Amino acid sequence: MHNNNLANDHLFIQTYMAGKAVPVRELHAGHRSEILNHLLQLGAEDRRLRFGTQTPDEVIHHYVESLNFKRDAVFGVFDHDLRLIGMAHLAYLPEIKGQAHAAEFGVSVLPEGRAQGLGTALLQRSAVHSRNSNIQTLYVHCLANNKAMMHLAQKAGMTVEYAYGDADAYLKLPPANSGTNVEEAANEQWADFDYALKENLKLANQAWWWFLGRPRHAR
Ligand SMILES: CC(C)(COP(=O)(O)OP(=O)(O)OC[C@H]1O[C@@H](n2cnc3c(N)ncnc32)[C@H](O)[C@@H]1OP(=O)(O)O)[C@@H](O)C(=O)NCCC(=O)NCCS
Repeated sequence: MHNNNLANDHLFIQTYMAGKAVPVRELHAGHRSEILNHLLQLGAEDRRLRFGTQTPDEVIHHYVESLNFKRDAVFGVFDHDLRLIGMAHLAYLPEIKGQAHAAEFGVSVLPEGRAQGLGTALLQRSAVHSRNSNIQTLYVHCLANNKAMMHLAQKAGMTVEYAYGDADAYLKLPPANSGTNVEEAANEQWADFDYALKENLKLANQAWWWFLGRPRHAR
């Protein structure tokens, strides 16, 4: 058992060093302030792309306050400084009798974290979580000129339908299996491990900075 854990941790470190996997954590109500900070850092155009309309700060405050972590799932990626650099909201749509269970996916990555696979990892994690939660259809509603999101959706195998300047991308999900359960558990474990590693590194840096002074690049 002990050896197995060591072997697993070693595998996680190797994966981390090789930069092959993006650790995606499931967020909870205790992360509200990080989520708020993340969304407030998005510029006007990114907010428009994310929410489909101009989105002032007050609307973002309201959105974050009303996030329901018991009903929906929210995922996040943290940078080396434990800043929430990417997040996704998987909102379960009301169940309609005789129709497939569905969820809507919304995502944002701060500009400095883009084009490194974070959006893809958040979509992949949300798709696996959806399968494990008996969701059969995953939707993304976005503006038709959102090239990055369109590309991401098509790369993930989603079907895209355009109407009146908007686009709906959807993915029919196969049922969960033992593989999807293991994949989600492994990603969760890997993300917890990664977070603890970054937390320790941050504390160690802070201790050194206390003795030596904070280097200019870290200010
Ligand atoms: C959409 C978004 C989440 C993508 O995040 P990301 O971390 O950069 O995503 P990834 O790195 O996984 O993939 C981005 C892909 O889009 C491609 N891309 C980026 N800009 C593009 C553009 N203008 N046209 C075409 N492709 C583009 C990248 O090259 C990359 O493709 P690749 O993996 O094949 O090289 C990010 O741009 C964002 O937060 N946008 C603002 C909010 C938003 O639009 N949300 C989606 C609506 S819910």
